[in-house]
Amino acid sequence: MASVSLESVRKVYDGGVEAVRDLTLHVRDGEFVVLVGPSGCGKSTTLRMIAGLEEADAGTIRIGTRIVNAVHPKDRDVAMVFQNYALYPHMTVRENMSFALRLRGTPKAEVERRVREAARMLDIEGLLDRRPRQLSGGQRQRVAVGRAIVREPQAFLFDEPLSNLDARLRLSTRAELKALHLRLRTTTVYVTHDQEEAMTLGDRVVVMHAGVIRQTGTPFEVYSEPADRFVAGFVGTPGMNFLDGRFEAAEGGVWFTSRGGARLRCADAHADRLARHAPRHAVLGVRPQAISLGAGGPGATLAARVRLVELLGDVMDVVCDMDSGEAVVARVTARPGLAPGDRAELAVEMERAHAFEPGELGRSLLHGGNGAA
Ligand SMILES: Nc1ncnc2c1ncn2[C@@H]1O[C@H](COP(=O)(O)OP(=O)(O)OP(=O)(O)O)[C@@H](O)[C@H]1O
Ligand SMILES: [Mg+2]
Repeated sequence: MASVSLESVRKVYDGGVEAVRDLTLHVRDGEFVVLVGPSGCGKSTTLRMIAGLEEADAGTIRIGTRIVNAVHPKDRDVAMVFQNYALYPHMTVRENMSFALRLRGTPKAEVERRVREAARMLDIEGLLDRRPRQLSGGQRQRVAVGRAIVREPQAFLFDEPLSNLDARLRLSTRAELKALHLRLRTTTVYVTHDQEEAMTLGDRVVVMHAGVIRQTGTPFEVYSEPADRFVAGFVGTPGMNFLDGRFEAAEGGVWFTSRGGARLRCADAHADRLARHAPRHAVLGVRPQAISLGAGGPGATLAARVRLVELLGDVMDVVCDMDSGEAVVARVTARPGLAPGDRAELAVEMERAHAFEPGELGRSLLHGGNGAA
């Protein structure tokens, strides 16, 4: 196993698309790092540069201590698992799994041992003589992972390996991949556009946007201390509520006034940092989970009307139109009797609020440093 490092890596495709810009990332030996971000942000391009399937236009890529920019993909000693699995249709599962080893001239007994071991680990021993078309999607996915495992590579590279599976199978396979990593401890770089998958799988999560890393951190860090408004809005469901407005020192504290005129008193713990920013234009961020039904204390209550109630089982999302005109979503414990058109008071836990500079990519005013590593 080995670490994987990218230093100031850049990729511009023919036609001038700058898919990855000045990307620096250090994946430690044995670590599971997830690249996550919306479609087109450069996740696959980054992974493919590590694998050697795309050439970097600038920067240095290292696997272990070796610079691999000019090393052929097959000599990089990494194993990639693709979204479509790319199994050879005319080969059996056993042949698919052993193909790379046989190509390398690995002794027959050793090939057999590794295939058996991987098949046992993935619970596909009974499928070794079948061909891919005789397998379910989930089974094919395991064969693809098995093919990577038998190579005993320095690192695994996964590109959206679960996206062809149905919702239930995706959850169970996700848990299997996590368990597998805990056993093998192989350095892993995993790409997904699904923030929940990123949060549950990663030791660390790298949130990307338009070819740039916005934040690198543990799942807890990117969720509770998002470095900017993009990360704050991308991580967590439902998305964070954002209100445009300004902070102002008043009444012995700092208050936020939204554009529509809703007023909230900031938590004392945040007051000093926000006072420094007052009274410029800024954005308040509140997760739906930090809003509950009923009156909060003074300066922590919003008056609103219910627009929509979405029941999700034990919780429900309540979409409200505040009297100030802005919309806000609250995720609350499910209860009957709340209907569109009802008046509602919303209590906001301001200790859990976030604040950002204006704009879609506004930096956090509360959490300094972007934690890039
Ligand atoms: N071979 C190519 N030629 C030109 N442009 C490309 C090529 N491959 C990707 N791109 C562009 O580079 C950008 C990044 O693409 P990339 O495939 O890395 O995104 P991604 O984050 O993996 O997205 P997705 O979640 O949709 O898979 C996109 O704008 C894409 O259109
Ligand atoms: Mg992709």
